[in-house]
Order: sequence, then structure tokens, then C-alpha cells
Amino acid sequence: MKGLEKKHLLTIFDLSKDEINAIFEKTRLFKERQKRGIPHNPLIGKTLALIFEKASTRTRVSFETAMYQLGGNTIFISQKDSQIGRGEPIKDTARVLSRYVDGIVIRTFGHDIVEEFAQYSSAPVINGLTDLHHPCQVLTDVFTIIEKTGNCKGLKAAWIGDGNNMANSWIEAASRLGFDLMLACPEGYWPDKNIMEKAKKEAQSRIEIVTDPRDAAKDADVLNTDVWASMGQEDETEKRKKVFQGYQINSDLLRLAKKDAIVMHCLPAHRGEEITDEVMEGPNSVIFDQAENRLHVQKVILEWLLKSN
Ligand code: CP
Ligand code: NVA
Repeated sequence: MKGLEKKHLLTIFDLSKDEINAIFEKTRLFKERQKRGIPHNPLIGKTLALIFEKASTRTRVSFETAMYQLGGNTIFISQKDSQIGRGEPIKDTARVLSRYVDGIVIRTFGHDIVEEFAQYSSAPVINGLTDLHHPCQVLTDVFTIIEKTGNCKGLKAAWIGDGNNMANSWIEAASRLGFDLMLACPEGYWPDKNIMEKAKKEAQSRIEIVTDPRDAAKDADVLNTDVWASMGQEDETEKRKKVFQGYQINSDLLRLAKKDAIVMHCLPAHRGEEITDEVMEGPNSVIFDQAENRLHVQKVILEWLLKSN
């Protein structure tokens, strides 16, 4: 995309406010074009590798579909049937793969893994989720807010539940784009301290953590949640079910928000835990439009990062 520097996309803070707005503007155009069936194939001859060390439905399928719609190809690499699973060093894998392909999406555990990969890769690296961040999802979430409400600046967003990778990326988004964010998380399950400190330092909006979900939900324009146990935390599932009791988006909590508040969830959801079936299927939910928008936002990201100048 004109005016945007080619680079890796590992966190929301890798992007300036202007870059995010340029992505959103182009996403609107791409979505409209797609709805009208107008083909757009700027990535003919380009290949995207997807390295996934965790499960995925949306991220994998939306990136693969995005790439095909843009005229390119994809190669899916799971750790179990590549040398990655047998311990080949990241710095070697990065240098080799980036000689073959034009871009790499990685979903893994430690954020240091994508950082090291990006350091050694000559092709752009896109974070498809780490334990610490989920930037493509949160860019999509904010795009969806703007699509539904007209703007995100000045809104109050509430995060209910775990201070996880999604919460961290939301904190960076609120700081960069200027909306208020109140996170309600149980003690001991707060977002990353360093991310929070940096985001607050740069923010012109309010970003705070509370423990009572009702404080976060009160007069909110956006209610947002995620699973109580993320991938990699399966052993803690039962313990977390107890800790997070009360951190559920249900109709009582929704009543505290603004009447036309939108309800978001990155999915997959555990209905009856962090969100009720009723709210997910209710009129305030934008959850499936949000999921669809992964495709449109990521098409813009791919064209920007992979297209030859
Ligand atoms: N929201 C999201 O990233 O979903 P997947 O885990 O299915 O990719
Ligand atoms: N926090 C969740 C997000 C899944 C898209 C996880 O990391 O499992």
C-alpha cells in the first residue's frame, strides 16, 4: 500500500495510528469490492507460509482464503510434520523458509519465538497469535467497531475476563487509537504489566483495570470477552472455571451497558462460561460479522506486506 513501510506485523504497536487508519480505509474498499464480486489479484505468483503450533479455524482459513482471493498460494506447515517439531532452530527455519516464500504467518506459544523468527526472516512475518498478542484479530475487532458505530474514538470498551493475549492487544489498540478501555479481570489474571505501562504512558484515552465486571460494563459502548483458558492453559481449565465465575457476559451485565452496545468475542466461545448463548445470539452481538472481517482486514495486510513495489 502506498506510503506504508514494509515490515513485520507482530503487535499492534508495530503500527502507527496512520497506518492502522490506512488499513481500515482500504479494508472498506476491499470488502465492498468482494461483495460486488470484483476480482482483485495483486499477489499472483506470491506464496504465504502458515506455521501453526496451535489449533486454529478462523486464522488459518481466513489467511488461506485471503491469499487465494488475492491470486496467491499458501503452504500450511504444522509443527508435527515439519522439522520445527524436531527442534530445528528458529533462526535456521526463518532463513530457509523466507528464501522460498514471500510472507509467513506464525501461530505459536512464546512471543519471543515470532520475534526471533522475524529477526532472521527476509520475508515479512505476521503474528497469527502468541501467548502475548493477537494483533490481526484485534485490528479486525476495531475495524468492526468502526463499521458498526461509525468511529472508535471516545468510545468506552469493556473487556470482561482473562487478561490474556487478546486483552494485551486490545490495550495497545486503545492506546494507539484513542478509545477508553476498562478491563475487568480477577486478581492474578491481569494483562501483561509491561504492555499496560507502555500503553498507558502513550495513551490519550483512559485504560484501566478493575475487578468488578459491572464497573467495566457500565455505560460501555462495546462489551468484549474471550475464553477463560487459552490454548496452552488446558491444565488450568477447572481452576479457571472457579476463578472466573461472575466474569460472564450475560443479559444482566449487558443491561448495564448502553442500550445499543455491541457485544464481541474473537471465538471460539465456550457458551455458558464467558458468554451466554442468549447474548451471543442476541441483537447486540456482532460476533459473526467480526469473524468475517478477519478475511477483509487480512487481505489488506497481505497486499501491503507481500506485494512487490
Ligand atoms: N479468533 C481466532 O483467532 O480463531 P482461531 O483460533 O480459530 O484461529
Ligand atoms: N485467548 C485465546 C484466543 C483464541 C483465538 C487463546 O489464546 O486460545
